[in-house]
Formats: sequence, C-alpha cells, structure tokens
Amino acid sequence: MANKSIANDSGASFSLWMHTRVPGYRQELPDSCEADVCVIGAGIAGLTTAYLLGLEGRRVVVIDDGPIAGGETSRTTAHLASAQDDRFTFLLRYHGAAGIKLIAESHAAAIDRIEAICSRESIDCDFRRVDGYLFNPPGGSSKFLEEERKAAQRAGLADVELVARAPLPSFDTGPALRFPNQGQFDPLRYVRGLAAAIDKQGGHLYTGVRADKIEAGSPARVVTASGRRITAKAVVVATNAPINSLVSLPLKQAAYRSYVVGFAVPKGAIQLGLYWDTEDPYHYVRLVEESAASDVLIVGGEDHKTGQDEQTDPQLRFERLEKWTRERFPMAGELTQKWSGQVMEPVDGVGFIGRSPGHDANVYLITGDSGQGMTHATLGAVLVTDLIGGRPNPWETLYDPSRNVMRAAGEFLRENANVAAQYLDWLGKGDVASVDEIKPGTGAILRKGARLLAVYRDEVGVCHARSAACTHLGGVVSWNGLEKTWDCPCHGTRFSALGRVLNGPAKHDLVVADLKDEA
Ligand code: FES
Repeated sequence: MANKSIANDSGASFSLWMHTRVPGYRQELPDSCEADVCVIGAGIAGLTTAYLLGLEGRRVVVIDDGPIAGGETSRTTAHLASAQDDRFTFLLRYHGAAGIKLIAESHAAAIDRIEAICSRESIDCDFRRVDGYLFNPPGGSSKFLEEERKAAQRAGLADVELVARAPLPSFDTGPALRFPNQGQFDPLRYVRGLAAAIDKQGGHLYTGVRADKIEAGSPARVVTASGRRITAKAVVVATNAPINSLVSLPLKQAAYRSYVVGFAVPKGAIQLGLYWDTEDPYHYVRLVEESAASDVLIVGGEDHKTGQDEQTDPQLRFERLEKWTRERFPMAGELTQKWSGQVMEPVDGVGFIGRSPGHDANVYLITGDSGQGMTHATLGAVLVTDLIGGRPNPWETLYDPSRNVMRAAGEFLRENANVAAQYLDWLGKGDVASVDEIKPGTGAILRKGARLLAVYRDEVGVCHARSAACTHLGGVVSWNGLEKTWDCPCHGTRFSALGRVLNGPAKHDLVVADLKDEA
C-alpha cells in the first residue's frame, strides 16, 4: 500500500504524492552567509516566496530542518479552490462584503499564479482546471446552499450557480453549488519544479538546517541550531505553524488533523472535479489521473483537534471514510492509500500573512492555511513578496497577522477554553501503569511520581523516555498511533517518537528523561 518516500518527515503514513523524489540541493550551510532574504521552511509557501523573490533578482537562502516539502505540503489533497472551506456565509460575518471579495479574489489569483508558474517553468504536475461542487449531506438545509450562493456572488464569483446535482452518476448529491474554474495538481511534482527553478535562479536551498533564533533588525539574523548565522535584509517564516510567535499566533488559530483514503477506480468512471459536502467535519473528494486504465479517487474528512483524538484506534477513522466512499462510489476498487495531515484553522477563518507581530518590519510570516494550504501558500507568497518589495497589495490588511480577531470572539473563546482544559491532563494518571504495558512500535504516557513521561518502545523493544511536557507552553503530549508521533493537544506541536520537534509552534525537542531516575 505505501509508496517509498524520501519526502516524509511529518509522520509514518504515506500520501499518494510521496513517491516523487524531490532532491536536496546543498548539504553544508557555511558558518555564515548573507542574502537579501532568508526563507525558513521549504514547503510550498516558502518555495513559492523564494521563487517569486528570485524572479525579482533577489538573493535568497531557503532553510528547512527536514527535506524539501517534507511537512504538510506532502500531505495535502491539493484542491485549488476559490470556494471557501469556511464558507462565504461564515466569512461574511467577520470580514464583511469587501473582505469576502478580497478572499475570493486572492484565492482565484493563487490558482492563476500556479497555472502561470507551471507554464513558465514547464512544470509537469497534472495541473487541471476543474469545477467544484458543494452539496449538503442527507437532510441538510437547502436554504444554506442558496445563502452560500448569494454570498459567493457578493464575493465576486458571479458564475457560481445552483445545479440539480453534482455530475456523479452513482451518487445523487441533491442540489449542489457549482464553482467553475477551480483547479487541482500534484503538489510534490509542482514543488519539485519550483525547487529546480529556484536553483536555476541561483537561490540556495539547505535541508537539515534548523532555525533556532530569529533576530529582527537591519540586517536581520537567523541563527541555526548548530550556531551558524544567516544575515539578511528580510526573513520569511513559512513553517506551517510559525516558530517565532510564542503566544500571539497560537492563541488565534487551532491545529486539526484530517484523514484521507484513496481507491483505484476505472478510468473515466468518475468525472474530474472537486466535491465537498457541508457535514461537520466535511468530506472532500477529488480524482487523480494515474494511468491509461485507472484513476485514484481520494476522499478526506474525519477532522479532529490535534492531540485530541477520542478514538483509541485511528483505523476507525479510515473505516468510516471507506464506508462513506463505498456507499456513494460502488466502482471504488482496492483501497490503496491511507494518510493524515494537519491544517491550521484561524478563529476568524482567514490566514495570517504579513509582518510578524512583535518583530521589526523585516520579519514576515505565512500561516493559517484554513484547510486551503496550496492557494493560501501561493497568495501568501505573492503578498509577502510585494511587502518585501515595498509595493502596496490590496490583501495586506485582510491577512495582517496583527489584526484584532475579537470580532470572532465566540470562536476565540471556544478554542482557548478547549486549550485551557487540556492542562488538566497534568492531573491524570497516564495511559499505562507500567512500561510493560507498552507494545513494541507504540508509545504511552506514564506517571512517575509528580512527572508524566512520554515513553516510546521501539520495534526491537527498547524504551525511550522523554518528559511529556511540550516545549512550547507545557501541554501534555499524547501518542498518535497512526503517525507514530507525540502530538500536543494545546496548539498542535508535533514531535517524533524519539521527541524531535517536527512542527511548531515549539522549537525544541522533548527533554530526555531516564526511566530509572524517576521516583
Ligand atoms: Fe502549545 Fe504544546 S503546542 S503547549
């Protein structure tokens, strides 16, 4: 089932895209180097930013502590949509008619930009223009679709129309909103093309380099974990969850896990398109053209807050997705893919892109993908490139990371009350009473006196103990049995089984503990 991967640095599952080999470009960062811009993060946001800056003739250095596109870029399902996961009706409440116009315009512009880059750089990544269809689950409100259509049209998407059903012969969706001119592609092949283009421009890409400190100023400095220094006129933090905002941004967005299954289907049995229902959490569906004889149907959903999975067995989520799919797509053959990924959900539904709060004007960030990571990353790169170039951009205020999100006070309070409740885990007794209960290849929280330990027993039976305290703000991590990671339920930091930080906002690894030393 799993493809062999070199891109995977964010969990044990393998996505459909990970068979694409994205080469590393330079291994050894010099002791000190200078650039116009240092970009931290080599996913689609960081690489698109580096590429656009390179087109303007700027000297760019990109660093990442994992491989190129080893994070969430390799775990997306790559729906390219100006339709909004958070729905225009919801966004209208917080951003008004002018705001939703900018939202629709910016995501549509991102699809155009991806198409233009594919053409300019001859990137073969199966980019396609497709229609998107939004429909209700059984018993859903038809009034909602009508309201969403009106809101989408107020947002400037004049061609959005209500049709009798999505064009899926085996699945009567009932009335659906058709969003023309959406898109899809293979994200890893696209990113591989971007990296090659950056290299051709003379940009420098370094993998296996972790940023430890960002010092704003003129010039700004990035100090790496090994003590090397990169001096730059500007720094862009494009690390999915920002590593330079300890409190401000983590309070304004929440991390969620989402699950994906893939099935072989006969060629042509399902019309190319993006399909979404309005269930909560919602399902998202698309097709990947694989060979002359078959396609792959990929279906996602089953979202939950990171580190807060009430299912003891994550396979149950895949089973529910499989059941949902087989009931609607009886032509679905062998289940060939299972993976999960992470999305950052801003409380007011709009990403955070621009000058980093609390830093000088030359540190920028791109975060808060809101489940639309590919277009969000691309519009983020366009916006940040304009800001660095000193050009006005109409999206600047909408996406400003320093904006007041209290117009979404209800969402803000709900998410942060949930975070506060997670700290009660410190009073718990742990998952197991003894390490003997931990099976090879799994992990569990163990109480030892006043301390909680995150203990992983490797495949040969050796136990590795770490403090269970997340190095961000001290939440108690929990074991993710699917991805074999320690996930923090507070703000979504994730660590490898051995405690290496994989995803922010934490910057440091879990602290090593000795099982013998504990009382
Ligand atoms: Fe904030 Fe762990 S991510 S406490």
